[in-house]
Amino acid sequence: AIARDDLFVHYTLESARLGNRPMVERRLADLRGCFADEAAFEAALRQGNPLLYSVSSVEPAAGDGQLHYGLGILQPGKIGAEYYLTKGHLHAHRPAAEIYVGLAGEGAMLLEDEATGESRLVPLRTHSVVYVPGHTAHRTVNTGAAPLVYLGIYPSNAGHDYAPVAKNNFRHVVIERDGKPMLVPREKK
Ligand code: F6R
Ligand code: ZN
Repeated sequence: AIARDDLFVHYTLESARLGNRPMVERRLADLRGCFADEAAFEAALRQGNPLLYSVSSVEPAAGDGQLHYGLGILQPGKIGAEYYLTKGHLHAHRPAAEIYVGLAGEGAMLLEDEATGESRLVPLRTHSVVYVPGHTAHRTVNTGAAPLVYLGIYPSNAGHDYAPVAKNNFRHVVIERDGKPMLVPREKK
């Protein structure tokens, strides 16, 4: 049977930690290559190596039909004009979809269809749910001034594949323009 402390898990929005599960932390230096403005990235890194996001996960059981979930907290900030973001990934099991539930703060999900390259920017905020289809690279961005807290629920066999995004990044970047988030094509290098 599934352990009792995997049946009921408490969290707070302040720590955004699921029970006592370990937090995986991503700092600025871990995001090398993700941001469009490399000079701004290096300049920010010379000032320090802040925590950008952390995720704690609950994995009650593996196998057909089972679910895993993770609670993420992404800090507000920008590198150049580009909002703080997560690395982003495809699921190793490509058909695996995911549900994101916004719990606090204001942000968005950048979705990119692996087959067509079509990009979409979908708001992620309190009282909203985002469906991430299978075969879709997904990245979370914080477009607000407060921490963005969200829950991601996914099939236990989804897995993470970071390699395609590490190699090609996303085709679009989410930047602030006139105080508002905007999706623009990434400039070719
Ligand atoms: C799991 C999922 C989220 C992310 C989290 C951190 O499938 O999509 O729990 O893992 O938002 O982002 P990454 O994993 O891209 O660093
Ligand atoms: Zn995912």
